[in-house]
Amino acid sequence: MKMWGGRFQKSTDAAVDDFNSSIRFDKRLYRQDIMGSIAHAKMLGKQNIISQNDAELICKTLLEILSDIENGEVNFLVDAEDIHMNIEKILTDRIGETGKRLHTGRSRNDQVALDLRMYMKDAIDEMSKEISRLTSSLIGIAEENTETVMPGYTHLQKAQPITFAHHIMAYVQMFLRDLDRLSDCKKRTDVMPLGSGALAGTTYPLDRFSVAAELGFSAVTENSLDGVSDRDFALEAAFCMSVIMMHMSRFSEELILWSSNEFSFVEMDDAYSTGSSIMPQKKNPDVAELIRGKTGRVYGSLMGLLTMMKGIPLAYNKDMQEDKEQLFDALDTVLLCVPVFRKMIETMKINKNVMRRGANGGYTNATDAADYLVKRGMAFRDAHEVIGKLVFYSISQGKALDELSMEEFKEFSGVFDSDIYDAISVETCVSQRNIYGAPAKDAVETAIKNAKKSLEAFKK
Ligand code: ARG
Repeated sequence: MKMWGGRFQKSTDAAVDDFNSSIRFDKRLYRQDIMGSIAHAKMLGKQNIISQNDAELICKTLLEILSDIENGEVNFLVDAEDIHMNIEKILTDRIGETGKRLHTGRSRNDQVALDLRMYMKDAIDEMSKEISRLTSSLIGIAEENTETVMPGYTHLQKAQPITFAHHIMAYVQMFLRDLDRLSDCKKRTDVMPLGSGALAGTTYPLDRFSVAAELGFSAVTENSLDGVSDRDFALEAAFCMSVIMMHMSRFSEELILWSSNEFSFVEMDDAYSTGSSIMPQKKNPDVAELIRGKTGRVYGSLMGLLTMMKGIPLAYNKDMQEDKEQLFDALDTVLLCVPVFRKMIETMKINKNVMRRGANGGYTNATDAADYLVKRGMAFRDAHEVIGKLVFYSISQGKALDELSMEEFKEFSGVFDSDIYDAISVETCVSQRNIYGAPAKDAVETAIKNAKKSLEAFKK
């Protein structure tokens, strides 16, 4: 008979048992469920809602069940529906009557909300640790490449020269924001819902605050209806994970492009590439492609969760059981991708010379040529036009700007002098961009120092 079977005349259809059951995917909440139950039982004992002896026996047996689960000695049952009732059933099978007292003043509705919040707090910590490691690897690569000049792009057209360090540090900023978002999301996850009951609290004198303290929560939920109905914390986590994946996916797209024969800016290590079953010469950036691809399923989880929540009236509805698969899949995907992505980046070869050559082509110093004229008194719009014509002329001559003769420069403007060559060398273009946040060596070194400080703050 079901734990809730008293009111029923018939047993559930086997197909419905199967349909209704969530044990297949919520069994991963076993530890949270047991720790939550232990805190609840202790409090019930302290408040004299159950006897001290019963509370102690429940806690002791729950710990035994925990270790049995971890030793693979427990079989969960589909017709016990979910992790909460499976564990309660095992407890009752072991200690009978006493086990049946555990669920006093509690509902599975506040129990599942508690378990999921506990699980997500740990998951957020785990993700943060992985993203910190990735960020720290990226900072390391940046430190070694503050003088590695490369072309910067807009519209995937060569734009202005930058350094590889500056490019990498752009991603460092994104991952630092991801860390910040996760820690913010954790604040709203770190609220203890037990005591909300099914929806309307309980008549027992529960001490919710001691349960929160016991479980390491910073606060308790303020409204029992909200306590069992709120999944905002799960939505926020799914959003944070979507943005993390989006950042890695953009980066992956660049690495895929840069690994192509046409770019050849980087080469993935053999250990992080795969071959073709037919073309013997191929070395494909599959890892980066898979990360780009898996981003879609994490977005899918976010959309799935948002859509699942949008129409359900207060308070608990069974629809919400659907939150876990989406959330767990997103989590598994992020925790799978971040370390692989980090190792792929740590081992890739950076072709500094090819990057440097790339910065030469495509008139990436044209802005600096215009700035040269401006610094000698010309209005920027006029300078823009002069250089535009100069570029058009240079293309027709098949020359770069610094390959033009002094006479050719003079034909376009009398302002040009022999110091133009130095002013438009790619090295000057980078070193002159030295304001806060810009790509010059000193500025990037400041950015690196600041990023290290921010990263340390997250580790605390
Ligand atoms: N397995 C359920 C879930 O994941 C637990 C809560 C069930 N509550 C209920 N009243 N049916 O949401």
